[in-house]
Amino acid sequence: MPRAGYFISVEGIDGCGKTTQIRLLVERLAAMGLPTLLAQEPGGTAIGRRIRSVLLDARNHGIEPMTELLLFFASRAQNVAEVIRPALDAGQVVVCDRFTDASVAYQGYGRGLGSAAVQQLSEVACGDLQPDLTLWLDIEPAAALARVGERESGRSAGRDRMESEALEFFLRVRDGYAQMHADQPQRIRRVVAEGSVSEVFGRVLAAALPALSERGLVARSD
Ligand code: TYD
Repeated sequence: MPRAGYFISVEGIDGCGKTTQIRLLVERLAAMGLPTLLAQEPGGTAIGRRIRSVLLDARNHGIEPMTELLLFFASRAQNVAEVIRPALDAGQVVVCDRFTDASVAYQGYGRGLGSAAVQQLSEVACGDLQPDLTLWLDIEPAAALARVGERESGRSAGRDRMESEALEFFLRVRDGYAQMHADQPQRIRRVVAEGSVSEVFGRVLAAALPALSERGLVARSD
């Protein structure tokens, strides 16, 4: 049975420009009159924010890959139950800053846990919930890391635990996204994330609006 709402996730490696593009997308959808909710992973709930701080604390370098994976899913299970499912049931468009594909890419490919383990956990933690549409902001890992470095200089706290990973890690994460895109091209749309903010946003809209109009959520001329 089709859901009442519509579930969009936005993915990509650290430094791909996701936060800016998500903000613009949520603003545009709201301006088009769609009831839109922004959800965030890891985090998104009070419990999730506490889990997030454990995950990203640079002092926690001893976290085992499996512990890391389970913590991301602990945050996600809470987010799904408390925020995402209720919003979808109420007919809202949910734009989620990362979802299970991030665990496949980062823990499955990046940490080498494999995608099968992640899929099994997904079924346990999220049931059959998966995004209707995923926008993968694709950028060269070296360019993305340069952006993370620029961002870092404007922050007092320095890089978080995940951002401190080496280029090889992000190359594997990107391979993970590329493989998922190849396997599920209908759901996972690749958006080239190089260029100006407005160029990238044009591509985000070009990927998202046809999918929304197919569902009858926006008019074709939008
Ligand atoms: P995010 O908040 O999206 O970071 P940013 O906005 O700085 O890009 O995600 C935090 C980090 O957690 C990021 O490095 C990606 C990582 N992550 C995983 O490794 N697995 C996951 O399942 C999720 C949701 C995030």
